[in-house]
Amino acid sequence: MNSFENASILITGGIGFIGSSLARRLVGLGARVTLADSLIPQYGGNLRNIADIRARVTVNVCDVRDRFAMEHLVRGQDYLFNLAGQTSHIDSMTDPQTDLDINASAQLSILEACRRVNARIRLVFASTRQLYGRPDYLPVDEKHPIRPVDVNGINKLAGEGYHLLYSQVHGIRSSVLRLTNTYGPGMRVKDARQTFLGIWVRQLIEGSTIKVFGDGTQLRDFNYVDDCVDALLRAADSDDAIGKVYNLGSEEVISLKDLAEKLTRLRGGRYELVAFPPERKAIDIGDYYSDFSLIRRELGWSPKIGLDEGLVRTIEYVGSNRRHYWDGTPA
Ligand SMILES: NC(=O)c1ccc[n+]([C@@H]2O[C@H](COP(=O)([O-])OP(=O)(O)OC[C@H]3O[C@@H](n4cnc5c(N)ncnc54)[C@H](O)[C@@H]3O)[C@@H](O)[C@H]2O)c1
Repeated sequence: MNSFENASILITGGIGFIGSSLARRLVGLGARVTLADSLIPQYGGNLRNIADIRARVTVNVCDVRDRFAMEHLVRGQDYLFNLAGQTSHIDSMTDPQTDLDINASAQLSILEACRRVNARIRLVFASTRQLYGRPDYLPVDEKHPIRPVDVNGINKLAGEGYHLLYSQVHGIRSSVLRLTNTYGPGMRVKDARQTFLGIWVRQLIEGSTIKVFGDGTQLRDFNYVDDCVDALLRAADSDDAIGKVYNLGSEEVISLKDLAEKLTRLRGGRYELVAFPPERKAIDIGDYYSDFSLIRRELGWSPKIGLDEGLVRTIEYVGSNRRHYWDGTPA
């Protein structure tokens, strides 16, 4: 990972959950890091996420939809980790235009900015497993049909498509990672806009009952944020990854009910099964877990932090930083 020492690195969404963890790791590796983030309150940006590295990074509060700002910011950078995004699936259904503007149009203008002023930049884009939709088979590999069940999935697909196209046609060296549920310190717990697990952790810490939608048998895989960061760095560091798409995932597959049970065992607490809200049921993907053998084979990545350890670290962090992540009103 020595290629990042003294490198100039831009992280869009850098004050968010994954972006800030990536920034911390890169600062440790000796990189010169700039964080571009809009800090729009509905999204995951939170200055607490970077409190410990604030003096060692450059912060630019700006919007990736501002193409002039982006053109200025990509100039002279060696790497761009493109993580800014609207992450809420429900919001993408109630306000589809904003999702389109951030997750698709802005991605295209970021790539255009690179093409115009910095065609030698190396890019990694954070995509999502959501774009597969309801799986035909499990585990889901990269060859699985793409059938998004919500507007967010369609726009993230466009976002990754632009990166691959610009790599292929314009030589803007890009890689795409399709992230699965990612969790850890710094995740949004105020509401369920990022993942349901965030709100569960908050409910656990508040001593209220965790609400599991449906019968709780839906299967999922989870990555601890440090493992996700490791994958982003490996993708950026490998020429073999240029123009490629990789699934992230975990072999530790768990039902939502078992996950809720695990959380209550780790910290004490209760959970209950409640009916699926109709707007969530309509975009639910059922069981999902990834086949991540491609990234394991080609980039040597596999997750290192088990679910128990990751959840303990997350609960500890959120528990001792709660006033920075929600206002005290019960969920
Ligand atoms: N966390 C997960 O489980 C998960 C799963 C799949 C994909 N992803 C993708 O990974 C990326 C990072 O996600 P995260 O979990 O860290 O979420 P996050 O919400 O914490 O981070 C996204 C950041 O982007 C910023 N942002 C949003 N719109 C912006 C705009 N218009 N201009 C500038 N900044 C803007 C937000 O303020 C936030 O800090 C996203 O692109 C997301 O789609 C995350």
